[in-house]
Amino acid sequence: MTTVIDGKAVAADIREQLTNSVETLSGEGETPTLATVLMGNDPASETYVSMKHRDCEELGIEARDVRIDGDAPADELFEAVENLNADPAVNGVLVQMPVPDHVDKQAVLQSIDPEKDVDGFHPENVGRLVAGDARYKPCTPHGIQKLFESIDLDPAGKDVVVVGRSDIVGKPMANLLIQKEDGGNATVTVCHSRTEDLAAKTQAADVVVAAAGVPELIDGSMLSEGVVVIDVGVNRVDADTEKGYELVGDVEYESAAEKASAITPVPGGVGPMTRAMLLYNTVKATSRQEG
Ligand code: GUN
Repeated sequence: MTTVIDGKAVAADIREQLTNSVETLSGEGETPTLATVLMGNDPASETYVSMKHRDCEELGIEARDVRIDGDAPADELFEAVENLNADPAVNGVLVQMPVPDHVDKQAVLQSIDPEKDVDGFHPENVGRLVAGDARYKPCTPHGIQKLFESIDLDPAGKDVVVVGRSDIVGKPMANLLIQKEDGGNATVTVCHSRTEDLAAKTQAADVVVAAAGVPELIDGSMLSEGVVVIDVGVNRVDADTEKGYELVGDVEYESAAEKASAITPVPGGVGPMTRAMLLYNTVKATSRQEG
């Protein structure tokens, strides 16, 4: 029997738990407030930002929507971030990635006040995570830890293969999994585009976290019986649908599900968890900044 991990349900539980904290903080005149900054009009980014605003609204978190023209000078973005950093009513600041090519991404990440960096991407927060003293855990890997909890999977001592080395998912996921703390203590292998025999690595894994951004990179033949599969991929591939595309994970679901003891679907697996953990970090930021 394969367990289909219901990210929507786990995320709904987390939102429910956050509702009380939001009410309490709001009652104290400290309504949690998240500001998103979107530069340009990438359609996927527009969708992500609007979903984040919808999530905030549902929980009673205030959301500010800052938009900047994609052709504007980079300084316009930095000025917007500075204003949000300086505004005591704003608890969380998130610049939606990717930013246009003429904007220095690292400079953007460093411009955000680390106390308001609810993505956890500022180098100070990355360093704290690696040092085992995280301020804000990045939303996707933190959400995946919650999915493990939901199926009573303790990664301690397990062989976990993380496929993908992005700053947003692969690197922080690997770091969290090797921490000496609950949800960690795993033996972690990080694979990427230069890995020579990916199948040999994934076949040896108790758990595979697929976050390479390559449609259906991993299929059942690359997995062992009983593996837990977490599919982070959200790839738009051309398809004969109303929108002209469909969303496909990094895992070929049907053949992987035949091998897996538990697997996340796409959509409805990791995606809702990423969104829920952003709300979690926004509430945490508000509590930290109180008084
Ligand atoms: N673009 C894709 N994922 C993310 C994310 O988690 N945070 C931000 N800010 N931008 C993204």
